[in-house]
Amino acid sequence: MEVVIVPTPEATGRLVADVVEGYVRAGGTLGLATGSSPEPAYDELVRRHRETGLDFSGCRAFLLDEYVGLPGDHPQAYRQVIRRVLADRVGLVDVRGPDGTAADLAAEATAYEESVRAAGGVDIQLVGIGSDGHLGFNEPGSSLGSRTRVKTLTERTRRDNARFFGSLEAVPHHVLTQGLGTIGAARHVVLVATGAGKAEAVADAVEGPVSAFCPASVLQLHPHVTVVVDEAAAGRLRLADYYRFAHEHKPDWQGY
Ligand code: GLP
Repeated sequence: MEVVIVPTPEATGRLVADVVEGYVRAGGTLGLATGSSPEPAYDELVRRHRETGLDFSGCRAFLLDEYVGLPGDHPQAYRQVIRRVLADRVGLVDVRGPDGTAADLAAEATAYEESVRAAGGVDIQLVGIGSDGHLGFNEPGSSLGSRTRVKTLTERTRRDNARFFGSLEAVPHHVLTQGLGTIGAARHVVLVATGAGKAEAVADAVEGPVSAFCPASVLQLHPHVTVVVDEAAAGRLRLADYYRFAHEHKPDWQGY
């Protein structure tokens, strides 16, 4: 994994946008994440779309996950969130996500998994990380080889996300999420994390054992992962100085 430590959340946005821009220019398939962590990157991509004409019309996108039972037009339904924060602002039309209102959720999960595969897979997958180490909504204990399926949220995740719903009671208990195996099939994974609240999860994911207890640690097995963190989220990394040195002295033939 390449770990890049930058000073602020805004700086994570610029760096992640640099990575994503190359895939956009190539008309790649984008794997999009919701949550606050990628939002500086989405803002920067919107700015580049407006100011430099960065063109998303050749791209398609897949979402990581969705709440079960939220109406499709609910403001916290992830397909609405991604429209607001990115897709509608850059003219990205082909955005698909798992349908959390499907009558047969197991069939929907299988169909979604197949639609990602049929599209040729994801070229670049953006992911945040939960404070409990989850990726997408793969909570601790998730099979490291899992595929899209229904999961039950932990109390901790529901509390973390209650700020978007106004109350804990309003946060759904169930979700459809790409599995860790689905995420791992993306050709390049970019994990972005900001703030001290993510420092422990980031350290577990990058430097801890590969374990279902920290689902994001599965990324250690992936051949092309870029971890972009601000100073606060890097606060528990034992090899932070080494990552800084390696990034500063990166051979110029080596891209992200
Ligand atoms: C949700 C999403 C995850 C995201 C996590 C962290 O649980 N399903 O994909 O990584 O939130 O969100 P935030 O970036 O807002 O801390």
